[in-house]
Amino acid sequence: MPTALVTGATSGIGWAYARRLAHQGFDLVLVARDGPRLEGRAEELAVYGVGTEVLVADLADREQLRSVEVRLSDPARPVDWLVSGAGFGLATPFGETDVRDEERLLDVLVRAVVVLTKAALPGMVERGGGTVVTVSSVAGFLRRGTYSAAKAYATAFTEGLVEELRGTGVRVQALCPGLTRTEFHARSGDDVDRIPGWVWLDVDQVVEGSLRDLGRGRVVSVPGWQYAALPAFTRAVPPSLLRRIRR
Ligand SMILES: NC(=O)c1ccc[n+]([C@@H]2O[C@H](COP(=O)([O-])OP(=O)(O)OC[C@H]3O[C@@H](n4cnc5c(N)ncnc54)[C@H](OP(=O)(O)O)[C@@H]3O)[C@@H](O)[C@H]2O)c1
Repeated sequence: MPTALVTGATSGIGWAYARRLAHQGFDLVLVARDGPRLEGRAEELAVYGVGTEVLVADLADREQLRSVEVRLSDPARPVDWLVSGAGFGLATPFGETDVRDEERLLDVLVRAVVVLTKAALPGMVERGGGTVVTVSSVAGFLRRGTYSAAKAYATAFTEGLVEELRGTGVRVQALCPGLTRTEFHARSGDDVDRIPGWVWLDVDQVVEGSLRDLGRGRVVSVPGWQYAALPAFTRAVPPSLLRRIRR
């Protein structure tokens, strides 16, 4: 059985991806901070008859991140898919945030993504196949705040790997969802009550879009018709106009 390691597997997009890969017959390594909840998720996956492993780790903590890195690079237990789904946002403007929260955000959205991708790739290349999906965001196209900058990094980092991996059989993807119904907004304290329903994506729709785009060889995946034109639009519009539209 192929094995997938999914970070952020307790909730939202990470959990939806884990469920979907289990449905396809993957054994799963589930990573997040909340141990009891992860155990519950592992039990839920039992219906698919796949193997599950729980790895409790705060990806903002270097030592705990190291345990995930070690698991990913263990040649005795190869990991065929890495889904970096862990993440969170900060609802307040940069001027009002605590710098330690900013650092944690960079640790999880940037450092952990780089470290875990680095740990996963050599084995995949050696075995001649593998998939790395990094959950980025359409926020990365909008250049607004540290969250947006971190997501722009994740997307650029992924796109930059494509040439290097050509011919190895390893696929990479930056999955860039728009607003998606998960715990993300409640956790970050975002006020989303007035955002109209048609803007929202469903987690299964996001995972479906990602898998479809992997099949098509699309490196940057933007699920949902609502967001399809956003990357081209943000590239075409002058930055000053983009700032006015955002306001
Ligand atoms: N929802 C949206 O509108 C949206 C849109 C675009 C992109 N995204 C991106 O999608 C990704 C997943 O978010 P989501 O919407 O699925 O949110 P979510 O429902 O809040 O899930 C976030 C997951 O990340 C885990 N996590 C958070 N901090 C962690 C840490 N320090 N170490 C380890 N795990 C951590 C959480 O588990 P524990 O609390 O158990 O650790 C949880 O499993 C994020 O990168 C987010 O930026 C979300």
